[in-house]
Amino acid sequence: MNTHRLKIPLLLACSSILFIAARLNREDKPKGLKDYYKKYFAIGVAVRPSDLKNNQESSLILNEFNSITPENAMKMGPIHPSESRYFWRDADEIVDFGVKNKIKVRGHTLCWHAQTPSWIFTDSSGNQVKKDVLLRRLKSHIQTVVSRYKGKIYAWDVVNEAIADDTTFLRKSKWFEITGEDFIEKAFEYAHEADPKAVLFYNDYNTEIASKRDKIYRLLKKLRDKGVPVHGVGLQAHWSINSPSREELEKSIEMFSSLGLQVQFTELDISVYSGRQGGQLIQGQRRQMETPVFTAEMEQKQLEKYKMVFEVFRKYRKNVTGVTFWNLSDKYSWLDGRGRKNYPLLFDTNLKPKRAYWEVVKF
Ligand code: G3I
Repeated sequence: MNTHRLKIPLLLACSSILFIAARLNREDKPKGLKDYYKKYFAIGVAVRPSDLKNNQESSLILNEFNSITPENAMKMGPIHPSESRYFWRDADEIVDFGVKNKIKVRGHTLCWHAQTPSWIFTDSSGNQVKKDVLLRRLKSHIQTVVSRYKGKIYAWDVVNEAIADDTTFLRKSKWFEITGEDFIEKAFEYAHEADPKAVLFYNDYNTEIASKRDKIYRLLKKLRDKGVPVHGVGLQAHWSINSPSREELEKSIEMFSSLGLQVQFTELDISVYSGRQGGQLIQGQRRQMETPVFTAEMEQKQLEKYKMVFEVFRKYRKNVTGVTFWNLSDKYSWLDGRGRKNYPLLFDTNLKPKRAYWEVVKF
């Protein structure tokens, strides 16, 4: 039999089956946040390695998001526990998940006052190091980490939370104590040298409070005027049911955009308790973990706030290049560590969309 004559129909049949399977596969998946917003900006989520190993969580991530940020794995302490040792496993798992699934990866964070390893500020005798030593260590850290993920991480939170919450300008961190302001521009220069294509962000919170916003603006204008390679501002967006207002939010986007910076909302959650920074309990109020229920009143206030902020994000689509949620669902939130269970995200404790989700995707 002339098998050649069979080949073409067989090929056609196989390709049709593959095509139908691909369409079925695509069509039977519900649209996710990333699909609703594909013409606006990337929709991301902060992840832990365990999220990627759990089928329920990883499926939700793949269906809803097109960007991921390591919640802790790339911070200085976890990734560089001693001067001669790096711990790459967790960060590599997250980056590999992103690369394998064609999901963008944001690096977080290269220089922060928190979760820094104890060795970085002290010499072998236990004395505090001088400015030149600390900057040399910072350069080595940044160039080692950024080079490892060059071409895989598209954006970095280079410096995190350097502005003070009180009436002073810069946070009185060890970085500031030892190097003055220099650690900020040096961090950006080191990161840019290591990966000239990476988009470099300054990241901070409470950026809708005028006094803090003005100081961040002052810092970023100074850096931009000096030609320091800072390309974007990360507004963390740890908000609550009663803040920010629409006006505060629009003012922040307009001010930072006027510097020619990309704007990203890098750590979005909306606490169901009133107050800034997620309405956490202040130290004195902490008792053993309270587990208040997620009431209908909380839900209504939260969905109104989510509806408003996404209306503003879409209005400023030309300036906003990404919105990342900080944690995946109400099953776990960093805010739970503040003494009472919180419900700040769009997916509930069973990873199902809450009413607020449908307010975000209905436009
Ligand atoms: O990994 C250790 C574990 O070995 C140990 O047994 C356990 C108990 O001590 O601690 C674990 O480390 C914790 C780490 O999260 C990983 O779970 C730290 O104690 C804990 O402080 C750390 O909290 C993180 C926090 O940053 C640190 O300040 C939160 O998960 C993380 O969501 C939060 O994220 C920050 C952003 O990076 C910057 N913007 C603010 C945001 C919220 O604080």
